[in-house]
Amino acid sequence: MNTYLETAENIYKEAALKPDVGLCCTTTPIWQFPELEIPRIMLDMNYGCGSTVNPRDLVNNPSILYVGIGGGMELLQFSYFSRNAGAIIGVDPVNEMIDACATNLIEAEKLNPWFKKEFVNIKNGTALDLPIDNESIDVAAQNCLFNIFNTEDLKKALNEIYRVLKPHGRLVLSDPICDISIPENLKNDEKLRALCLSGALSLTDYLDVISSAGFGTVEIRARRPYRILDPNNYNTEKFIYIESVEICAIKDPIPMDGPCVFTGKTAIYFGDKEYFDDKAGHVMIKNQPLAICDKTANEINHLNRGDIFISESTYFYDGGGCC
Ligand SMILES: C[S@@+](CC[C@H](N)C(=O)[O-])C[C@H]1O[C@@H](n2cnc3c(N)ncnc32)[C@H](O)[C@@H]1O
Repeated sequence: MNTYLETAENIYKEAALKPDVGLCCTTTPIWQFPELEIPRIMLDMNYGCGSTVNPRDLVNNPSILYVGIGGGMELLQFSYFSRNAGAIIGVDPVNEMIDACATNLIEAEKLNPWFKKEFVNIKNGTALDLPIDNESIDVAAQNCLFNIFNTEDLKKALNEIYRVLKPHGRLVLSDPICDISIPENLKNDEKLRALCLSGALSLTDYLDVISSAGFGTVEIRARRPYRILDPNNYNTEKFIYIESVEICAIKDPIPMDGPCVFTGKTAIYFGDKEYFDDKAGHVMIKNQPLAICDKTANEINHLNRGDIFISESTYFYDGGGCC
């Protein structure tokens, strides 16, 4: 195994044996649902940088895969929507993390009468070679893990997720991103990488690897401040601003003209007709906002019309729209 992967496993072994509240940082409020009580220890072991749980993805008791389990908080939140034995599979290579998570799920069972620990099946394994059958999963999730991987391993991990997802299944992820290039010395610092501080790609590069894995629809659901690496505290001359992003990538076929990537752009037609039809599959009712993917935004922009407004990306896309 590559040494940086071993370093990561060792760091999370420590974080399993002794919860480290500040390990990863998130400004995301923790999802609370009726009759869901999250044990304190799961909150202390929240090593994510956002949320991957979205009720919109979780209709009809989906089969769920969660890679890199941490203290199990999101396993519990996913269980809320899929209450069958083995409906949620967790995969992690760190035995100590698996044990801690299993203990935390027993605690969750005591606090939540609806929850049975049998809903969750935890397997020892790695994101790079998932112990999961082809096309068996509806929703796969990872939170603050893939950024640790170098580009070659990231591609492997995404290919593995793609392999196990059913057609139209979805990968939901939360990960750090950084739009300036992180200096090589920090990138190669195995500890910083493992702590989710120096492996981040730019959003554009991250979207490229996701699309290259075959996902035909990609949604950016949130983008937030995450961390600062500054010259006083890190071995860097430049000030580095890291964000976190929540993405949903859907295993739809890739259209001939490329994947549909929704970054939160919206079009509004305000001309003198009832609607505008671009004859390419997009009909805009007058004065009604229509969520559009970046490809459609580009096409409409090229029409050079004075009666269609297209917003900037909000990075807050929540469904619906053109494609
Ligand atoms: C930053 S923590 C995130 C934990 C969890 N997703 C959360 O949001 O709290 C990374 C997790 O990935 C696990 N991990 C480390 N290397 C892994 C690998 N190669 N494949 C899968 N999981 C891995 C760690 O043991 C740890 O549970």
